[in-house]
Amino acid sequence: MTALNTAAIRAQFPALRREENGTAVAWFDGPGGSQVPHSVIDAISGFLAHGGSNHGGAFAASRDSEEAHETARGAVADLFGARPDDYVAFGMNMTSLSFALSRALAATWGPGDEVVVTRLDHDANIAPWLRAASDRGATVKWVPFDTISYRLDLEALADAVGPRTKVVAITHASNAIGTIVDIAEAARIAHSAGALIVVDAVHYAPHGLIDMAATECDFLMASAYKFFGPHIGAFAGRSSLLEELDAYKVRPSPASGPGKWETGTQSFEALTGVTAAVDHIAGLAPGEPTRRDQIAVAFAAIQDHALALGERFLAGLPGTATVFGITDDLTARTPTYAIELEGMSARRLATELGDRGIYVTDGNYYAVEVMRSLRRDDGGLVRIGFLHYTTEDEVDRLLNALHDLA
Ligand SMILES: Cc1ncc(COP(=O)(O)O)c(C=O)c1O
Repeated sequence: MTALNTAAIRAQFPALRREENGTAVAWFDGPGGSQVPHSVIDAISGFLAHGGSNHGGAFAASRDSEEAHETARGAVADLFGARPDDYVAFGMNMTSLSFALSRALAATWGPGDEVVVTRLDHDANIAPWLRAASDRGATVKWVPFDTISYRLDLEALADAVGPRTKVVAITHASNAIGTIVDIAEAARIAHSAGALIVVDAVHYAPHGLIDMAATECDFLMASAYKFFGPHIGAFAGRSSLLEELDAYKVRPSPASGPGKWETGTQSFEALTGVTAAVDHIAGLAPGEPTRRDQIAVAFAAIQDHALALGERFLAGLPGTATVFGITDDLTARTPTYAIELEGMSARRLATELGDRGIYVTDGNYYAVEVMRSLRRDDGGLVRIGFLHYTTEDEVDRLLNALHDLA
């Protein structure tokens, strides 16, 4: 079994050497965006320093950027466990890709058709579907999560889908409370009604192995800045469906292939960074025969690390702290903990921690339905996220600060 060498990982991330008031920063804001390793920074600056040209030119630098683009598609296909004939396309971020995909899918709907969304999702996988439904006169069905067990109610999902359901939009894991969703089961439910499934894997991507092929996702989206890469979004989906759909595009851009979904000039430098980010994850388990195998073994080690940190964190919390999320089975969640300290607003707690060089997020992190369901839509909660570069010492430092503040 591969174990993570956290010290060696940390040495690759220059931002982890940042200080605040003379103290090393402890970065617990990973669910909002991870830091990046040298390899990603070098890939991006190397591309720019070498001369980045646009696609379609009859010269080597242009062919280089086309190659960087194709290489990034291959890297993301490995990260997503995509089927050989899936398309991988890029865009500014997941939110813009989600609007593009929902708009194109909705063009095939009519009044009386239905779309299913969940209250566990980030708004980037809700609002585009609400808008698409209202544009087409379709009906929105909501699936709740259990506010005691913090699990998504898959029975409610099965009840929500029916013969008129066109799309089930669902998260792989909650960016607010960390709950992991059984995507294979959700896809089975969607497909049994003849609906498509669109999966938001933005939060899940740095924590666990995505497997589009095994889970039978039709479409899946993620953002590289959450998995140690630059700010760029990626999505993959069944090529047969993407060929049939009508993309909102300019006339001279490709009419077929993944390029049909990529509006305007892409950030080629960011694409080189995406490949480096995937290679960073794969590089955590270099002994395996293929990059996909390396990624799979790397995530097993990342999950072990997350479990150890999660247990330490939960065991050490002060009695006046409340965790909003799964605590009975840490394999059913990512190491993203939404907490509240009695008598203190989320903003105040985040500020106190920030002043101590401990970076956490507060508010709703655009998971507005989660906060509404938890009755925390006024001010939200403090979110603490662990990544592969998080150490036990950092968790202890956080716990000490929470005890002081409690
Ligand atoms: C689960 C989840 N989905 C979607 C998004 C939106 O991603 P992007 O910032 O790439 O639009 C986020 C961002 O925090 C997220 O956490």
